[in-house]
Amino acid sequence: MTRARPMLMMAASAALVAGGALAAAATPAETIAARQASFKKMGGAMKALKDELGGGADKAKLLAAARTLASTARAQWVLFTPGTGPSSGVKTDALPAIWTQKSAFDAASAKLVAEADKLVGIAGSGNTAAVLAQFKVVGGTCAACHRQFRADE
Ligand code: HEC
Repeated sequence: MTRARPMLMMAASAALVAGGALAAAATPAETIAARQASFKKMGGAMKALKDELGGGADKAKLLAAARTLASTARAQWVLFTPGTGPSSGVKTDALPAIWTQKSAFDAASAKLVAEADKLVGIAGSGNTAAVLAQFKVVGGTCAACHRQFRADE
């Protein structure tokens, strides 16, 4: 445990540097709150897409929501720094598997970014059926990660 610590701390600070402005939010509670807020933003973008696809299918609104989703998804994963799991004592639904199966978690993160980017690519096309199909693919990537790495799913 003691021997692993310096390495964990190095990884944590590297991730925080990658997080740029978020580097100041260094306590586990702050990091966890930041990522939960970020997920809520993604949830809001998904809801906006769903509502728009079920209603007016306004191209500009679809594109704006898709862009929010893609940029949030891209910025999100540096907030899973070591020491911000359940053992931090802070309330979080992040499962320990995120850190023990890091490559699977990273792959699930990368998958969301790729699928969200595809959605951005077609969101303003006016082809509602294609946008709906890709929206469902994106939703599937959210659900797949939650099943594996989120506690209350
Ligand atoms: C690579 C894994 C992964 C992907 C992909 C993912 N999530 Fe999550 N999500 C998580 C984890 C882990 C948590 C728990 C975070 C915590 O409590 O610290 C979470 C939590 C959430 C929450 C609850 C936040 C809160 O209030 O505490 C929402 C909402 C959410 N995700 C929405 C989404 C949506 C929408 C997508 C897809 C667009 C998505 N997630 C994709 C892993 C993922």
